[in-house]
Amino acid sequence: MQAQPRTDFTTSAVTLPPVGLSDAALRYGVVPMPDLSWTPEVERETAHLYEKVKRVIPPVEWPFHAPYVKAINDLKRQRNAVILAHNYQTPEIYNCVADVVGDSLQLARLAGESTADIIVQGGVHFMAETSKLLNPNKTILIPDAKAGCSLAESITGADVRALRAKYPGVPVVAYVNTSAEVKAEVDICCTSSNAVKVVESLGVDRVIFLPDRYLAQNVAAQTKVKIIAWTGACEVHERFTAAEIASYREGDPDLKIIAHPECPREVVEVADFAGSTAAMIDYVKKNLPRRVLLVTECSMADNVASETPGVDFVRPCNLCPHMKRITLPKILESLVYLREEVTVDLALAARARRSVQRMIDLG
Ligand code: 13P
Ligand code: SF4
Repeated sequence: MQAQPRTDFTTSAVTLPPVGLSDAALRYGVVPMPDLSWTPEVERETAHLYEKVKRVIPPVEWPFHAPYVKAINDLKRQRNAVILAHNYQTPEIYNCVADVVGDSLQLARLAGESTADIIVQGGVHFMAETSKLLNPNKTILIPDAKAGCSLAESITGADVRALRAKYPGVPVVAYVNTSAEVKAEVDICCTSSNAVKVVESLGVDRVIFLPDRYLAQNVAAQTKVKIIAWTGACEVHERFTAAEIASYREGDPDLKIIAHPECPREVVEVADFAGSTAAMIDYVKKNLPRRVLLVTECSMADNVASETPGVDFVRPCNLCPHMKRITLPKILESLVYLREEVTVDLALAARARRSVQRMIDLG
């Protein structure tokens, strides 16, 4: 079967270099868009990757993904590039082209350890900025610069300065879902997997915690430290309600319900377990429940499903429109044209890096 090259993405008006490129051009210059035909060679070279996703991608769709998968993996090698993909990326990205997958903390740590020249961020803009903070000399690319985050957009550096003026001497903890401008104003960062540990590491009786009011409530429930919260929310997780979860529970009392701590407190309270995306995946892999409800972004269930045959996933998930901006065609474009490059002002980056590094140094 001959798949047609996808046309649902734009290309830059660039002059392509001639065929027969030097090593330097392959590494650092714009290269021609690879042929995207579905051929026996593509089928053969991607067969082992299709095995990983066959539970969630029907055979009829694979000929459309496979040419991109092969082209991206070839170009990664030529460019000495790696793809860091968040757990919310679609299964064909997560399983077939990503070099590293994980939650925000894992991606931040691994970004700092990478020896690649180029990092392509399969995720949203604040994640790419964090990679840049930890790798100031590398090229960091995001396949769609509009991949934002409702949490990161809920607060500015000026807001943090105003909070400090209102609560003098109270340290500020920022969730990594913030811009570099905000990270530059705070004392330390945290992710959903280490938030309680970070808050308690400061040795004070109150902290300002921003920007997620629900994560703040869920942290407050686990510590004696008083939490002063900002009012941001994740547009994906705030839509879940306790009534919705209860109705699933009623339908199947054995159902395991696992929630992300960006969900409202009332949702986390009725869940069997709450944790970061990586902790949710670990829970499913270790406990292999018969049926499970992942109260989080949609792609998580597909990604875990590929690795946990026998587990039945109930799917009342919400899509993150920002994460879904990242697609195979855009990743390929990013590697061909070396765009969109993520940069951070050097002085600001030095201040923002301190708060991210302080979190990483906590271990
Ligand atoms: P994790 O750190 O749990 O992966 O969550 C981050 C997040 O909300 C990504 O959108
Ligand atoms: Fe931001 Fe929520 Fe999307 Fe994560 S899922 S990127 S927190 S909007």
